[in-house]
Amino acid sequence: MLAIIGASGNIGSKATEILLAKGEKVRVIGRDTFRLQQFVRKGAESVVGDVKDTDFLAGAFSDVDAVFAMIPPNYTAPDFRAYQNEIGRSIANAITKAKVKYVVNLSSQGAELTTGTGPVVGLHDQEERLNRLVGVNVLHLRCAYFMENLLMNIPLINEKGIAGSAIRGDLKFSIVATKDIAAEVAEHLVKRDFKGKEVKDLLGQRALSLDEAIGVLGRKIGWPDLKYVQFPYDEATKGLVEIGLTLDFSKLIVEMSAGINKGLFGVNRPRTAENTTPTSIEEFAGVFAAAFEATQLKKAA
Ligand SMILES: NC(=O)c1ccc[n+]([C@@H]2O[C@H](COP(=O)([O-])OP(=O)(O)OC[C@H]3O[C@@H](n4cnc5c(N)ncnc54)[C@H](OP(=O)(O)O)[C@@H]3O)[C@@H](O)[C@H]2O)c1
Repeated sequence: MLAIIGASGNIGSKATEILLAKGEKVRVIGRDTFRLQQFVRKGAESVVGDVKDTDFLAGAFSDVDAVFAMIPPNYTAPDFRAYQNEIGRSIANAITKAKVKYVVNLSSQGAELTTGTGPVVGLHDQEERLNRLVGVNVLHLRCAYFMENLLMNIPLINEKGIAGSAIRGDLKFSIVATKDIAAEVAEHLVKRDFKGKEVKDLLGQRALSLDEAIGVLGRKIGWPDLKYVQFPYDEATKGLVEIGLTLDFSKLIVEMSAGINKGLFGVNRPRTAENTTPTSIEEFAGVFAAAFEATQLKKAA
């Protein structure tokens, strides 16, 4: 049996689909019965509850061969770092309580650093916490910036005719599709081919600048002149608050963007066949175009 935290989310849902298609036994974890039903219909077991409840989580982890662990984001937490620590501790304690032996942990580029990377500092802390667990084999997947983050540009494109964030437009950095992360999660949960505490980078298909990425996405949605704009940090913070994020989380996102601009997220390990993943920005453009199209239909209705 394999347990999946965040099973209705970006990565958890895709990993669950892959595992169920392979005939694996999967226990999906989330707070909403309805959102987990799609997997129950395909043979998964579902457990509904909050990962901050350690006893609930230890029950969800009972008799499992491996766990996919992640700290689900909570954009409304008044103190995001405190929230990450609370959830991180609960996950680590539940792993110990349930005597789990294999954990695939969702982490990030920059997780080796203790400061300057915004929310990724919480993933650093979680790596350290899991590394302290004796007798548990842990694989930290240090993922690059998700391609799916680019979907956040859709409201901006619709309202202002531009794409943008606090990250420099001309800077090349690693961007990865969540479907490729999910494939790695599924593979390592099944193979359990890691021992002790290991780290694996997932760097996407190639390094990309946001100027280039937005150019590809713009052409796909029939907006060939779509431009990427870098916002000043204070303006970017205000913009994130306007779309509903807390001030605390908005500041952390902008700190992470500044960290990307300073090259903090560049790994020292070279790109290899192992850390390169298949989905290109050109392929992801299809996902982006479908999401953009849906907003056009909504506007027209
Ligand atoms: N975005 C990036 O570029 C990037 C890069 C590297 C790493 N990361 C890390 O990736 C993770 C996010 O992954 P994702 O995008 O797959 O997440 P996601 O799509 O936000 O999914 C999280 C899922 O967890 C569930 N959930 C939320 N709070 C919960 C709680 N308290 N108890 C139980 N379930 C809960 C939610 O479902 P319900 O609401 O139904 O419960 C949701 O479907 C974060 O840890 C982030 O730091 C992100």
